[in-house]
Amino acid sequence: MNFTLNQKPVAIDAPPEKPLLWALREDAALTGTKFGCGIAACGACTVMVDGQAVRSCVTPVSAVAGKAVTTIEGVGDKAPSPVQRAWIEQQVPQCGYCQPGFIMATTALLAKTPNPTDADIDAAITNLCRCGTYPAMRAAIKRAAELTKAGA
Ligand code: FES
Ligand code: FES
Repeated sequence: MNFTLNQKPVAIDAPPEKPLLWALREDAALTGTKFGCGIAACGACTVMVDGQAVRSCVTPVSAVAGKAVTTIEGVGDKAPSPVQRAWIEQQVPQCGYCQPGFIMATTALLAKTPNPTDADIDAAITNLCRCGTYPAMRAAIKRAAELTKAGA
């Protein structure tokens, strides 16, 4: 399977039906994308495919042939992205397990909706966090929008 992974072309030798999550973790050795539920319910496995947030546990690797996949490893690889900086400012993570998925979902949201309202956030960010970081997360999403707008 040929696709672009974090801006580099890759060829992954995996059965076409293998979930993208496991192709990333096992074949590409990128373990930042987490397994939570395996049934598209929790969002721990969220990555971006051509800019859209996608739940990689239910996406066969064949579905991303020729597309651009971005994982948490591809965000802020040179310097923390505005979303990551906002996350640090607001001290969002607790155990951290769900956070890569939230950061990917937020990055995709802000690319489409630079000024998200609470309703936009509720509609787009349906990930689950067992530690209950939701209030800090909402503040961080708004802060990330400001930082992105300021080009900071
Ligand atoms: S692991 Fe994919 S949505 Fe939960
Ligand atoms: S920070 Fe622990 S599950 Fe979200």
